[in-house]
Amino acid sequence: MSEAVLVTGGAGFIGRHVTAELLERGYAVRIIDSLIPQVHGPDPELDPMIRGAEFLRGDIRDGEAVARAVDGVGSVIHLAAEVGVGQSMYEVTRYTGVNDLGTATLFEKLIGQPVRRVVTASSMSIYGEGLYRTAGGERVEDAVREAMREGEKEWNPLDAEGRPLEPLPTPETKRPALQSVYALNKYVQERLTHILSGSYGMESVCLRLFNVFGPGQALSNPYTGVLAIFASRYLNEQPPLIFEDGEQRRDFVHVRDVARAFADALEKPGISGETFNIGSGRDRSIYEIAIKLGRAMDRDTIEPEIVGKTRTGDIRHCFADTSRAREGLDFEAKEDFDAGLAEIADWVREQEAEDGVERARDELERRGLVA
Ligand SMILES: NC(=O)c1ccc[n+]([C@@H]2O[C@H](COP(=O)([O-])OP(=O)(O)OC[C@H]3O[C@@H](n4cnc5c(N)ncnc54)[C@H](O)[C@@H]3O)[C@@H](O)[C@H]2O)c1
Repeated sequence: MSEAVLVTGGAGFIGRHVTAELLERGYAVRIIDSLIPQVHGPDPELDPMIRGAEFLRGDIRDGEAVARAVDGVGSVIHLAAEVGVGQSMYEVTRYTGVNDLGTATLFEKLIGQPVRRVVTASSMSIYGEGLYRTAGGERVEDAVREAMREGEKEWNPLDAEGRPLEPLPTPETKRPALQSVYALNKYVQERLTHILSGSYGMESVCLRLFNVFGPGQALSNPYTGVLAIFASRYLNEQPPLIFEDGEQRRDFVHVRDVARAFADALEKPGISGETFNIGSGRDRSIYEIAIKLGRAMDRDTIEPEIVGKTRTGDIRHCFADTSRAREGLDFEAKEDFDAGLAEIADWVREQEAEDGVERARDELERRGLVA
C-alpha cells in the first residue's frame, strides 16, 4: 500500500495537477484547501481532476483543521498560499498570515506527528533579479535597477559604466534578494521547511518554481500567472497589458512538468535538505509569449499594449539554471511550449473570465506602485 500524501492547496492550479499525478502513481491523496474566492470564484466547485482524493475544506492557519488534515498521512506537499507579487505589497497581513503563519501552523501540527518528508513550493521570486554578467565577464549576483527618472527608458540593470548587464541562467546558489512581501514569504516558507523538518526527524525538499503555465490557471485572478492574465484579456477581446517594453525574460514551465517534479521530489531518496529550481531551462520574452498566445487563440489582430511603466517589486530578467534539478532529481521539462499554448487556447474557449486587469492596475497605481 502506497503512503498517504497531504496536498495543501490541492484544489489550486498546481495542486490539481500534483494530485492527479500522485493518484496516477497509486498514492492515497488528501487535500486541505479553503477555496479562496480570488482563485475559485464565489461558488467554488471541485475539479473532476481531484475526484479521487479526499477533500477537506479548511484554512491552513486553522490549527484544528490542519491537525485533522495531517492525521495519518505519510508525507506532505505544501502548496497552499496567497500568490501574487504586486498584491502582496499592500495585502501584507493577508499574505504574511496565510504564507508564513499558515506554514508555521502546518509545522506545529507536524511536530506532534512527524511525517517522512515535506516538499514545499517556493518561487523564483526569492532571487529578485536573476544572475548577470558584465561586459568584462564578471558575474553579478546583486544587480538592482536604479529608480527611473521621468523620460528615461533603460529597463535593464547597468554596470558601473552605465552599460546593460547580460542576463545568465540563475542557479540555486545565487543569493536571495527579497524585493516583495511575497518573495519574503516564500523564503520564510523554505527556511521553515528545512529548519523544522531537520529538527524533528523529517526529510525536506523545496522546489523553486519559475513561471508555471498550462490549462486550469485561474483566469479571473489578475494578480498572478502572466499567461492566464493575457489569455483572459484576449478572451475578452482586449489587448494584453505589457509592463516596461516587453523584453523582460522569464522561464515558462508547464504545470504537468511541475507536477512530475513534485512527485519525484517526494520519492527520490537522498535529497533531503535540498532546494531545486524547476524551470524549462529556456528563456523567452514577455512580448514573444503575448504574440504566440494571441496566435494560438486566433486573436492575432489584437496588438498587445506596451504600458512602458514598471511595477514596484518587478524584476527585469530571471530564468532557471536547471542543472541541479537534472543531477539531483533527474528532472527535465518535457512538455512542448507551443503545444502548451494550444492547450491553453482550447481550455480558455470553454471559460468565461471576468477581466480584472484594469482593476488590478488601478490598485497598484493608486498606491504609487507603478512608475
Ligand atoms: N503559478 C506559479 O507560476 C507559481 C510560481 C512559483 C511558486 N508557486 C507556488 O506554488 C503554489 C501553488 O500555486 P498555484 O499557482 O497553484 O496557485 P493557486 O492560487 O491556484 O493555488 C493555491 C491554492 O491555495 C489555496 N489557499 C489559499 N489560501 C489558503 C488558506 N489560507 N488555507 C488553505 N488553502 C488556501 C487556494 O484556495 C488555492 O486553491 C503556491 O505556493 C505558489 O506560491 C506558483
